[in-house]
Amino acid sequence: MEYVDRILVIGGARALGAAIARRAAKDGYEVVVGARDVAAAEALGAEIGGGALRIDLQDEASIAAAAEVLRDGVAHIVTTGSAPHDVRVTELDREGLLAAFTAKVIGPMLVAKHFAPVLRPGGSMVLFSGVVGWRPGPGSLVKGVTNGAVEYAARHLAAELAPVRVNAVSPGVVDSGAWDRLGEKRAAVLSGSAAKTLAGRHGESEDIVDAVMWLLGAGFVSGETIHVEGGSRHKFV
Ligand SMILES: NC(=O)c1ccc[n+]([C@@H]2O[C@H](COP(=O)([O-])OP(=O)(O)OC[C@H]3O[C@@H](n4cnc5c(N)ncnc54)[C@H](OP(=O)(O)O)[C@@H]3O)[C@@H](O)[C@H]2O)c1
Repeated sequence: MEYVDRILVIGGARALGAAIARRAAKDGYEVVVGARDVAAAEALGAEIGGGALRIDLQDEASIAAAAEVLRDGVAHIVTTGSAPHDVRVTELDREGLLAAFTAKVIGPMLVAKHFAPVLRPGGSMVLFSGVVGWRPGPGSLVKGVTNGAVEYAARHLAAELAPVRVNAVSPGVVDSGAWDRLGEKRAAVLSGSAAKTLAGRHGESEDIVDAVMWLLGAGFVSGETIHVEGGSRHKFV
């Protein structure tokens, strides 16, 4: 890529966000890593020759402050935040519900609010949904509904921000680092997810990064949710 354009990756300090930030830097973008852990954001920013800002999707003031810092323009914003509340319906906790909706839906809408004057024409936002939105199951209520809401947020934000484009990526189970917290169970979760796809494998971070990078340049695509999940919505198991 010959030109330098600025991209803000929120949730960019680890897992898929960090993979997107690294690829964007490699492709010639000026990358700003946004994360609530500003030290982690600064470490990655320094590694890839970019910048770093504290952005907490649960804290509107941090979003507004970041937009002020970047007021001379941003081409693209990718927001990967999630705050899972994976419980059965009888165990729902109102604070957990609010945090989950804020990380995936309300926070990105507030990002759109504050960055609308900052986003450059021809630019875009990419939100993050997930396959659970299309695969209901016990314990997946909050993740499923928030992921479904992201699809509608992308459609409606696309109409609000046009001609800036807004799209969403909906990953299947991806070995992004997020599953490392499962310890010994990680391998079983990944192989079990592979059996539920048409592709016959779990996802890798690069599968998702490829889709995000394509969307950044896909000037005739707006308001869409791109499913990157090995066809698992089409396999009945
Ligand atoms: N990996 C998968 O298998 C998979 C499958 C389906 C969908 N997805 C979706 O893909 C996206 C990225 O997932 P991932 O695999 O990278 O792992 P993840 O653990 O879900 O990553 C979430 C990211 O969001 C950040 N975050 C959480 N709350 C935040 C907040 N209030 N403000 C700012 N950032 C916040 C986290 O940063 P901290 O370090 O601060 O926690 C982390 O960087 C998520 O939306 C997830 O739901 C992933």
